Amino acid sequence: MASSTTGHCLFLVLLLRSSAAYGQLSTSFYDTSCPSLQSIVRSVVSNAIAADRRMGASLVRLFFHDCFVQGCDASILLDDVPGTFVGEKTAFPNANSVRGYDVINNVKAAVEANCTGVVSCADIVALAARDGTVLLNGPTWNVSLGRRDSMTASRDQANSDLPSPFASLSTLIAAFSSKGLSAQDMTALSGAHTVGFAQCQVYRDRIYKDNNINQQFAKLRQSDCPATQGINDTVLAPLDVATQLTFDNAYYGDLLKNKGLLHSDQELYNGGSQDALVKKYGSNSAAFFADYVTAMVKMGNINPLTGTAGQIRANCAVVN
Ligand code: HEM
Ligand SMILES: *[C@@H]1O[C@H](CO)[C@@H](O)[C@H](O)[C@H]1NC(C)=O
Ligand SMILES: *[C@@H]1O[C@H](CO)[C@@H](O)[C@H](O)[C@H]1NC(C)=O
Ligand SMILES: *[C@@H]1O[C@H](CO)[C@@H](O)[C@H](O)[C@H]1NC(C)=O
Repeated sequence: MASSTTGHCLFLVLLLRSSAAYGQLSTSFYDTSCPSLQSIVRSVVSNAIAADRRMGASLVRLFFHDCFVQGCDASILLDDVPGTFVGEKTAFPNANSVRGYDVINNVKAAVEANCTGVVSCADIVALAARDGTVLLNGPTWNVSLGRRDSMTASRDQANSDLPSPFASLSTLIAAFSSKGLSAQDMTALSGAHTVGFAQCQVYRDRIYKDNNINQQFAKLRQSDCPATQGINDTVLAPLDVATQLTFDNAYYGDLLKNKGLLHSDQELYNGGSQDALVKKYGSNSAAFFADYVTAMVKMGNINPLTGTAGQIRANCAVVN
């Protein structure tokens, strides 16, 4: 008798846990609570990109750096408070590198003016990344929503879990695998490097020391990124040599010609397990777009706070 009752209770618990209302994101999450949300986000992001087209790329990267640390919970947006709170903005992969915080704050202000206290900063980051992709002529997708905002951040996890531009293929695959993303997801998501820029200090070793690099390309990049550390460290070069402000499949074409800017980029096409996929994406942009969208949705599902966990921040930079 007792064990049969226990069995029924367990069954009920499992049923509730798997029901749609519990811990799941949904594309219709704000349909009644903030029906204008998506048009407000699109309009603010569109203005930001009209002023600075690179911002589309920066918003895509912001989402990646949020999701890989504690999950997609807007932890990256929390400011350091000297003496009391350590945030992620000062972690090595983020400091003087991640952009777009102001744009997210502007979106948040516009959203709060329309539906106060309802929409999370984490969902705004997810929508802004989608809109950044679309506005640079990339693919679109429906963004699952209902994430809530963290009350914590982790600089240590940002330093350990965000992949390094000096990493090998096996290290990159492991870093994505630890977030539940496959090698294919990793290769498709890396296609985001078809837009945006990197600083000399992250590609210097590649253009002077790597052997698997097109020599004309290396010379081109060496022209304003000297071998000496400390000189021109922050000079920018495009991650995709020719069409860095258009979201296309040209990044894979670069890799096929040994013109990947980062060591980590060229690792995807260097005689290893991802070579075939790089060739496929390089010749078939529809295949790249489809797999990129699938992988972005998966990345957006990394460990969200839902239900009553976390909070809806009033100001994306501080815990309520
Ligand atoms: C595979 C491992 C990855 C590594 C090692 C990596 C590393 C980097 C580095 C070093 C930069 C340049 C930062 C700077 O110099 O300030 C960069 C830029 C960028 N990354 Fe990645 N990244 C990776 C994956 C991704 C993913 C998965 C996405 C998004 C889905 C992404 C999106 C971007 C974008 C759009 C930029 C340009 C940002 C801008 O111009 O503001 N990256 N990445
Ligand atoms: C929200 O924005 C929509 C579209 O701009 C507008 O029709 C609506 O009145 C706004 N609601 C509030 C409460 O500001
Ligand atoms: C988004 O969802 C709507 C409604 O379910 C659907 O009609 C549309 O095709 C979807 N868009 C994409 C890009 O998947
Ligand atoms: C440093 O960068 C500037 C352009 O930003 C360039 O004109 C200059 O030649 C570079 N210096 C070296 C030593 O490469």
